Amino acid sequence: MELAPSILSADFARLADEIGKVEDAGADLVHLDVMDGRFVPNFTFGPPVVAAVRRATSLPLDAHLMVESPARLLDAFIEAGVDRLSVHLEADPHLDRTLHAIKEAGVVAGVALNPSTPLGALDEVLGLADFVLVMTVNPGFGGQRFIPSTLKKIKRLREIVVSNGYQAKIEVDGGIGADNLREVLAAGAETIVVGSAVFASPEGAAAAVRELRELASN
Ligand code: DX5
Ligand code: ZN
Repeated sequence: MELAPSILSADFARLADEIGKVEDAGADLVHLDVMDGRFVPNFTFGPPVVAAVRRATSLPLDAHLMVESPARLLDAFIEAGVDRLSVHLEADPHLDRTLHAIKEAGVVAGVALNPSTPLGALDEVLGLADFVLVMTVNPGFGGQRFIPSTLKKIKRLREIVVSNGYQAKIEVDGGIGADNLREVLAAGAETIVVGSAVFASPEGAAAAVRELRELASN
């Protein structure tokens, strides 16, 4: 399991401290939720904040672009120092070109899928993607409830990837915590995004990361 805490539920006024806690506790990636107020009904942050996060941690940065026409923003996020970039299939009619552009820049390229988007929409790009980000809530907000039907979707995606010999890894995002982590791992997810269950945990972010790690290894 690769654990990717999402800073969406962190204290934005203390980002470096918040990231330091999860880095020390054993997080593998920092997940960055970029929202434009159009593709999703919420705003977060853009390249300047990503560049500041880049200076604050040595962990790889996993940027999840929940924006319309993501291709126009790739260069800015790549210059800001991201290591992985996912764009939403629903937001980009030229995914083939976009995935090639991300990979040519030496960045790991992902396709993100809303809960209502069928896996069949991936057919022509799955062989190109380094990873698929399966949304397990409707994107836009932290702290939402996990959508149970996405478990079957993760399993089916895993079967498609394996039976075709594709390289794509499966990342899952939304509503994941100690209560369902093992289920999503068993379904075939490899990279796990966790926002509120880490940064809004009453035990603190570091303890939450350690607990999730322990659950995954048992
Ligand atoms: C939702 C974001 C998620 C979010 C997950 O639009 O893409 O990354 O931060 O937060 P939780 O884990 O609280 O659902
Ligand atoms: Zn996300």
